[in-house]
Amino acid sequence: MLLHHCTWREVEERLARDTGIIIPIGSTEQHGPNGLVGTDALCAEVVAKGVGEAADALVAPTISVGMAQHHLAFTGSMTLRPSTLIAVVRDTVQSLARHGFTRIYFLNGHGGNIATVSAAFSEVYAESSLDGERRNAPSLRCRLKNWYDSPAVRRLSRELYGNAEGSHATPSEVALTQYAFPESIKSVEMSPAIAPNGPILDALDYRRRFPDGRIGSNPALASPEAGKRLYDGAVVDLTADYREFLAAD
Ligand code: NI
Repeated sequence: MLLHHCTWREVEERLARDTGIIIPIGSTEQHGPNGLVGTDALCAEVVAKGVGEAADALVAPTISVGMAQHHLAFTGSMTLRPSTLIAVVRDTVQSLARHGFTRIYFLNGHGGNIATVSAAFSEVYAESSLDGERRNAPSLRCRLKNWYDSPAVRRLSRELYGNAEGSHATPSEVALTQYAFPESIKSVEMSPAIAPNGPILDALDYRRRFPDGRIGSNPALASPEAGKRLYDGAVVDLTADYREFLAAD
């Protein structure tokens, strides 16, 4: 069930029996020659909706712009500074906590968000630790999970793509968007077939090292059929993980 498709009374009724919520979080950034700029936000959202249906969980609106400063030399990419994203995540969690949500599950589609979202969780916990008044309040727990790290997705992407999976603009994430949005599939030649690997620093350094935006990947291998298998695997794994998160002490 989508939070933004509920009335406030429906949310209130739900909260009486279930204080968990899933928040998709991604990024709006270049994804190589055939990947959509919205790939990381779209993948997180699609998987979160699937988990929401499978686990009868509430799903919040997607945080679609993440920490992606290193992609800014490619047109269309957007970023929040780490300090801004920390504030966004903190205010999001605290808005929900104010109503009584106690289990906030961020379903992530972008590696560049991990450090910043983890720092935001530390800010949230620091606030309750520092506020002695809240010591009898229900415990607030946050978890961050990357859909692309789920065991089924790891296994499938190894089987499907081997060393052409790479680490950015991967065939797995492109395949997932092809499954979810078949009307937006692009066919583009890759040269070289597998992109180089290496470190990334700021935006200009990234574009100099990886001129078409890919890192270590060949996303021309993506297909909507593979995307469906990846989607199904991610939903099964993350539904189990979300249920465990709700049940954990
Ligand atoms: Ni991505």
